[in-house]
Amino acid sequence: MNVFKEFFELPAEDKVSVYSNNLKRPCRLYTSSSNYDHENVHLWRDNLRHPCHPLEDCIKIWPQKPTRYREIVATYSIEAKKLGLRILELLSEGLGLGSGFFGDKLSESSLLSVNHYPPCPDPSLTLGVSRHCDPNLLTILHQGDEYGLQVFKDGEWIGVEPLHNAFVVNIGHQLQIISNNKLKSAEHRAVTNSRVARTTAAFFINPSDDCVIEPDKSLIDTNESPAYRPFQFKEFLLNYSSLMGNPEKCLEPFELHA
Ligand code: OGA
Ligand code: NI
Repeated sequence: MNVFKEFFELPAEDKVSVYSNNLKRPCRLYTSSSNYDHENVHLWRDNLRHPCHPLEDCIKIWPQKPTRYREIVATYSIEAKKLGLRILELLSEGLGLGSGFFGDKLSESSLLSVNHYPPCPDPSLTLGVSRHCDPNLLTILHQGDEYGLQVFKDGEWIGVEPLHNAFVVNIGHQLQIISNNKLKSAEHRAVTNSRVARTTAAFFINPSDDCVIEPDKSLIDTNESPAYRPFQFKEFLLNYSSLMGNPEKCLEPFELHA
């Protein structure tokens, strides 16, 4: 967390080489959302994101400053992946899918997304991150020690209390689809505050791009039918980004109606 904060505190000239609005750049720093030119309201955030797998290749495109960034974040990404796989293993056991179900292609890829929300003079005018569910399989979120994350439950936004050195674990859209809606991805957003900057790090565990996602047959009860058609993960991502993560709409093209 310290090295992430140090990154955002660097002078602009040290960050400019990473700054880009080109979605094709795998490692990039940008402001607001990926859609800055077309969004109605800008978000009060900067975001640094880069892939973490395969580590030996990706690390070469990560920020070079702070000088210890690559070493520390490499260790972090390995541990976050291990933790995520342990949680997936437990979820798999709980669902009765057996050991290793989420290993391999379903969890092959990983992406680190680091958010920085500077103090905002008027938090009522904007958000840190708009409402969404994470598009991936599972998220390991380090939300730091400041309030800002909210989850939508029973028609209300509820603040998620920051617990020191604890992670927030989010079920992503893919886990909901594979489980045929037995697990639900949680809708969430981040608000800003006028007092202090807030830095958060989301480690996304993703299927590989060409991995085929569909409800697992063993999770479709005899009186049920599959709620989603098979698709490639990259197709989901393309649709998700064109809808800017709108949680009401982004599952629609994949839904089957019995
Ligand atoms: C995200 C996210 C919440 C936060 O990056 O997907 O939901 O508190 N972040 O930064
Ligand atoms: Ni999220």
